[in-house]
Amino acid sequence: MEVRKAVLPVAGWGTRFLPATKAMPKEMFPIIDKPVIQFIVEELLEAGIENVIFVTGRHKRPIEHHFDINTDLERHLEEAGKEKILKNIREISHMVNPIYVRQKQQLGLGHAVLTSEPAVGFEPFIVSLGDIILEKGEKVLRDMMDIYNRFGKSVIALFEVPQEDVSKYGIAKVKEIEDGVYIVEDLIEKPSPEESPTNLAIVGRYIFTPKIFEKLRETKPGKGGEIQLTDAMKLLLEEEVIYAYRIDGKVYDTGNPVDYLKTVIEFALSREDIGEELFSFLQELISKQIQPIDRP
Ligand code: G1P
Repeated sequence: MEVRKAVLPVAGWGTRFLPATKAMPKEMFPIIDKPVIQFIVEELLEAGIENVIFVTGRHKRPIEHHFDINTDLERHLEEAGKEKILKNIREISHMVNPIYVRQKQQLGLGHAVLTSEPAVGFEPFIVSLGDIILEKGEKVLRDMMDIYNRFGKSVIALFEVPQEDVSKYGIAKVKEIEDGVYIVEDLIEKPSPEESPTNLAIVGRYIFTPKIFEKLRETKPGKGGEIQLTDAMKLLLEEEVIYAYRIDGKVYDTGNPVDYLKTVIEFALSREDIGEELFSFLQELISKQIQPIDRP
């Protein structure tokens, strides 16, 4: 069966960004003027996936509003003659066929994926994490779906990170079977640099066979007391092969303040309307050798 659905877990607290995330989902943080979650949804659409299941929570309503029709705003833009932005706003409202599933308790990423089971049913599905934007996301998803179509088994995307960053990610030990395609031998969630078997990090794009749900039900709380997706994949490995695909494009992590800022700056610099001005501003800042300010 081909892959038709994607699950987007968006129920997390966003603790790394508190207090900004007290009332605002981190998935709605803007990269200039587009929320992070829209990049993820556009990547899915470009890869031909229109059925998107958001695993959401009680403080995540803005995400639902973002992909919904806003007739008041449309009328206002129409009256103001702002046709370009009106067209854009209308496109966003019709982007996806959303299903919203409520995760009542934030018990971890694995638990969030398990919550989507009634909406996914017994078929393969993509999981895309909301805080990672990929430079060639559509190609990554298409390549992963090709691997799924050939082998009929789960596929994860990996990318190489500096050794000191391994503790931010799930890490995989793999064996290459052909150019860019690997078999997963072992997985570990957020290891210390000393215990990490490799520096190949799980990058927030997965295709799972429905067997993952059975394994998620068996998964005990792991790192941070949470039900970890990586631990369920480790259980799945005992029964099924998991394939891995290595990403060669750029990976933008927006899940922590400094990487989020780097992403915003890089995207802004490449924009025609604001890039030049920002570049001059940054040059001026650097030439004045402004030092980081000591804050109390
Ligand atoms: C999650 C996963 C981790 C993965 C990471 C990618 O961690 O648990 O395996 O490498 O996403 O962003 P989180 O960033 O939610 O702590």
